[in-house]
Amino acid sequence: IDDKLVNRMSKDVRYFHQKDGIEKVLSDFERYGYGRFPVIDKKHRVIGVITKEDILIAMLRKLGALYIRDTRRNELLEESTYSILLPTQRKIASKEAKFFYEINSLNVNDAGLGALKLKKFLLDRGYSEKICRRVSIATYEAEVNVIIHSGVDGRIDAFLNENRIIVRIWDKGKGIEDVNKAMQEGYSTASDQIRELGFGAGMGLSNMKRYSDKMILISSKGKGTTVELTFIKRG
Ligand SMILES: Nc1ncnc2c1ncn2[C@@H]1O[C@H](COP(=O)(O)OP(=O)(O)OP(=O)(O)O)[C@@H](O)[C@H]1O
Ligand SMILES: [Mg+2]
Repeated sequence: IDDKLVNRMSKDVRYFHQKDGIEKVLSDFERYGYGRFPVIDKKHRVIGVITKEDILIAMLRKLGALYIRDTRRNELLEESTYSILLPTQRKIASKEAKFFYEINSLNVNDAGLGALKLKKFLLDRGYSEKICRRVSIATYEAEVNVIIHSGVDGRIDAFLNENRIIVRIWDKGKGIEDVNKAMQEGYSTASDQIRELGFGAGMGLSNMKRYSDKMILISSKGKGTTVELTFIKRG
C-alpha cells in the first residue's frame, strides 16, 4: 500500500496529437490493442482521452446509420458492458439476455404482448412501477413497429444490471431509409389500412426517445432495424 505510483504506472505511454487524423488513430488502436489513448496538444499537455467507442460513434453518425441521444453519454460509454451490447455483437449479447421474446409479425392482435410480458418480468424482480412503466411504453412502440413496418418477425432482448435495464428490439426486415426523417414527430410511412387500425401517427420513435434515458437506432434499407433503449434506475 505504501508503494509509489511511479513503480506501478505504465511508462512509454502511447498517445495522439490533437491534430492526428482518424485513420492514424484507427490503425494505432489496432496495432497496440488498447481501448483508450491520451490526447496531447502542441505543448505536450494532456487535453483528453479518446476511446474506441468515441471513434465508433463518430463514424456511425457520419454514415447516418445511428441516432444517439444521451445526456449521460460519458458515464455510459465508459462501461465495459457497453461493447458487448453493441448490435454488431448481437450473438454474444442475446445469449446473455435475462429476458427474451419472439415477436410474431403475423398477428397484429398480439402487438404489445412482449412489452407486457417484459413489464411483468421486471415487476416480479422488484423494479419500481415507475421504471417498468417507462420500459413498457417504449418497448411497446418498438414492438408494434416490428409488426407493422418490418415485414418479418423480430425479437426483444432485455439485459439487467444493478442500476439499469437495457432493452433491444430488433428485426432483420425492411429497415428504414432515412433514420433522421423517421425520428421526426409525425413522420410515418404507414398505409391507410394500418392507419385504420389506429397506428401511423408517427409518434412511436419519438416516444421511445422520450421514455428512455438513451436510445440508439440503427437501421438501413433492406438490412433490418435495431433499437436499443437504456433505462436508468432513479432514487
Ligand atoms: N422496425 C421497423 N422496420 C421498418 N421501418 C420502420 C421500423 N420502425 C419504424 N420504421 C419507419 O419509421 C417510421 C416512423 O416510425 P414511428 O414509430 O415513429 O411512427 P409510426 O409507426 O409510423 O406511427 P405510430 O408509431 O405513431 O403508430 C415508420 O412509419 C416506418 O417508416
Ligand atoms: Mg410506430
